[in-house]
Amino acid sequence: MPVRSWFPTLIYRAPLQSAGLARFNAELADECRRLREFDAAGRRWSAKNYPGGYTSYASMNELHRFSSTFTGLEQKLTRHVRAFARALDLDLRGRTVRMSDCWVNIMPPGAAHSLHLHPLSFISGTYYVATPPGCSGLKFEDPRLSKFMAAPPRLATARPAHRAHVTYPARAGDVVLFESWLRHEVAANPVAAERISVSFNWSWS
Ligand code: NI
Repeated sequence: MPVRSWFPTLIYRAPLQSAGLARFNAELADECRRLREFDAAGRRWSAKNYPGGYTSYASMNELHRFSSTFTGLEQKLTRHVRAFARALDLDLRGRTVRMSDCWVNIMPPGAAHSLHLHPLSFISGTYYVATPPGCSGLKFEDPRLSKFMAAPPRLATARPAHRAHVTYPARAGDVVLFESWLRHEVAANPVAAERISVSFNWSWS
């Protein structure tokens, strides 16, 4: 075959751990809901910027520093981030990687999260805590989309890796990691139950 593929965009997905996820997620979901009760500033910010939903992104975005539950999550995530960094061939010898931000997202029916990326970090991701059947997945956009200029549309039968978007279903217990520059969004939650996730950024030094 004379054609080879270059400059891949990697996305990582794996279960956080091999056992005990149901109990871990039940406790985490309770803590996320308690946080929403407690975080009046976050509720005010969300009312303006995250219609219908709650996020602690602008109010409590270093949860791993203040809550042992989230410190535990950080510890569990570290090996996934390191594995993803290895898959990316990143040279982190003699470097440290750390979670720089960690925040909660609760999406009741109808709440959406429009297209965005995560500045000031190198790996970002989400851990799914509660994912009612039929809730929205995480949709990624081809990072070259703005460069396509006069490219014709793709065949409806195009191979998945050649399409302009890919959606990862949200599955409680899964970790999804991506490079922080990769734009993504979450469509409006179409089901009558709350979708809960924890998002995070990692930096290196
Ligand atoms: Ni995001």
